[in-house]
Amino acid sequence: MALNESQKQYLVDIHSAVEKRLSSRRFFHVKGVVDTAQKFAKRYGVDEFSAIAAAYLHDWDKEHSNEELIELVKEYKLGDFSESELKEYYPLLHAWTGAFSALKEFPELPTSVFVAISKHTTAAKDMSNLDKIIYCADMLEPSRGVKSLDKIAAKSKKLTLDELYFTCFKHSMKYLLKHDKQIYPPSIDIWNELIRERNADCKQKR
Ligand SMILES: [Fe+2]
Ligand SMILES: [Fe+2]
Repeated sequence: MALNESQKQYLVDIHSAVEKRLSSRRFFHVKGVVDTAQKFAKRYGVDEFSAIAAAYLHDWDKEHSNEELIELVKEYKLGDFSESELKEYYPLLHAWTGAFSALKEFPELPTSVFVAISKHTTAAKDMSNLDKIIYCADMLEPSRGVKSLDKIAAKSKKLTLDELYFTCFKHSMKYLLKHDKQIYPPSIDIWNELIRERNADCKQKR
């Protein structure tokens, strides 16, 4: 659905707030995610306003220090993590805290926007189409300049949203294995669930 005038104005306000909050390098990435998410929203029939708003806000807390993020995890009561778990999860925390921090700033936005922000690093078993769009747009926006991701972006037109999401999630698992990085334990369950769904789909098609 095309944007109405009040949505356009609201997005201009979000744009300014994000530009003020983040470094120019990060803001450049965010703009790439916005453009990519808008393109995917049009292609896959997802609400454009929510996709653009979530894309603008997905890294709202990304430039906090690890100490600030841990404080926010405690303030928002985001789970009972040990200190060592929190250290392992540093790269993930900004998604979980960012959803709550952005909600404080933009409470008028639909809840689905904050859910998509919270899932943009780890994904989840229950991904809505909006969640999938933000997850994929964050990975495929052009300024990342990663050849393997550019290849996925180039062939994305031929893929359904589920196929695109599967391809992106698989890419992130392969990256972690290739670089000897830890896998967030729930991601293994997400992977297994995706494989189960694909196998069930194949059986149905046979
Ligand atoms: Fe992020
Ligand atoms: Fe990002």
